[in-house]
Amino acid sequence: MVAYLIEYLGMLLRWLHVIAGIAWVGSSFYFIWLDHSLDPPEPGSNSAREGVSGELWAIHGGGFYNPQKYAVAPARLPEKLHWFKWEAYTTWLSGTALLVVVYWMRAQSMMVDPSISSLTATQAVLLGMGSMAASWIVYDLLCRSPLGRHDGVLGAVVFGLLVLLAWALCRELGGRAAYIQVGASAGTIMAANVFFIIIPGQKRMVEAMRAGRAPNPLDGIRGKQRSVHNNYFTLPVVFMMLSNHYSATYGHPQAWAVLALISAAGILIRHFFNRRHFGVHSWPCLGAGVCILGFVAWWTAPHIQPLPPVAGPVNFDRVRGIVGQRCIVCHSAAPTFPGILAPPAGVILTTPDAIVQNSQRIYQQVVVTRIMPLGNVTKVTDEERAVVAAWVRAGASPQ
Ligand code: HEC
Repeated sequence: MVAYLIEYLGMLLRWLHVIAGIAWVGSSFYFIWLDHSLDPPEPGSNSAREGVSGELWAIHGGGFYNPQKYAVAPARLPEKLHWFKWEAYTTWLSGTALLVVVYWMRAQSMMVDPSISSLTATQAVLLGMGSMAASWIVYDLLCRSPLGRHDGVLGAVVFGLLVLLAWALCRELGGRAAYIQVGASAGTIMAANVFFIIIPGQKRMVEAMRAGRAPNPLDGIRGKQRSVHNNYFTLPVVFMMLSNHYSATYGHPQAWAVLALISAAGILIRHFFNRRHFGVHSWPCLGAGVCILGFVAWWTAPHIQPLPPVAGPVNFDRVRGIVGQRCIVCHSAAPTFPGILAPPAGVILTTPDAIVQNSQRIYQQVVVTRIMPLGNVTKVTDEERAVVAAWVRAGASPQ
């Protein structure tokens, strides 16, 4: 019952997280588009006299819209002002709760990988938490340092540090958890940008206007810089959040480099769209992004690691024995492995029929990607992988 409730809670959190994320990424895309699409008002027009720096006309949902942007602020503060912050906070809060339910509470199976490091479950969780906090602190210091005035260099340094984080986490955690933790670090930077920089800056601007003072343009400039950073983070972070479905990426021997390449492709593609709003078509950016994705497709294509020859007959009994010994601690109706509360991915391997039915998936997980058993916690041997391979290739017969 507890297992079911936790599973259900996970479902609700994931649902909320995706919806809040759509709202947040959607508003980021919208406002960057809006900013880039504004045209200066006619000289001498009413808008120009009121300090409007750009405006546009749009049609959506059967109505006409005419947003205007003021150079720093309008002369008079409007009574009703819409803020955009809860999409960011909700995304971060639901995402962190999901991280706790799916990864931190089951760190032994979901984060630790004894084949690559000797970290304990507690250490793995602390490493995850620490990397999220440290990422924000380092990033924020960089933005405040003199480097903060050189957008291109700053972007390259932040990207380099995230790749370094991916490299370090991939040496300590299972690939799936490492990817999610890099995503959580980038997501934390994004949400903290809103919470610590953009919103407080905007509050200061509004307060200054209420007090009859001119708002400090630096607050606007800083907010804009962080908001542009967030925009470039979106594509890589969304990939990291989806990556746990794609074992060819996080299961690759150089998983950190795969992550770096896919993120770079995401940033280049985002850049293409951002430039396009200005009417500039940066085809080399789009081309480079697509080429990188093509290279990753080739680089992560499954190639089966050589397996030792099998001694003795290959038959179903042997396969059943292996599954019984190595898999069903997790893959049974009532798993006994600590932290696994329900059969993972709904895969139950306790009956002969189920093993035969799932033979292709077993082959994928055990022979091709070698993701299963997770972190090889049950110590399947290469010879056992070879037996499974030979049995499936010979037609996965139940005899
Ligand atoms: C420590 C627990 C654990 C052990 C042991 C384990 N698995 Fe898994 N298995 C998981 C988890 C967790 C998932 C869910 C992965 C996901 O959500 O994508 C999973 C998923 C799977 C899937 C479904 C993947 C898919 O998307 O098609 C298969 C098949 C599978 N395991 C086979 C095996 C086999 C075969 C063994 C034994 C050689 C094994 N597992 C051992 C935890 C385990």
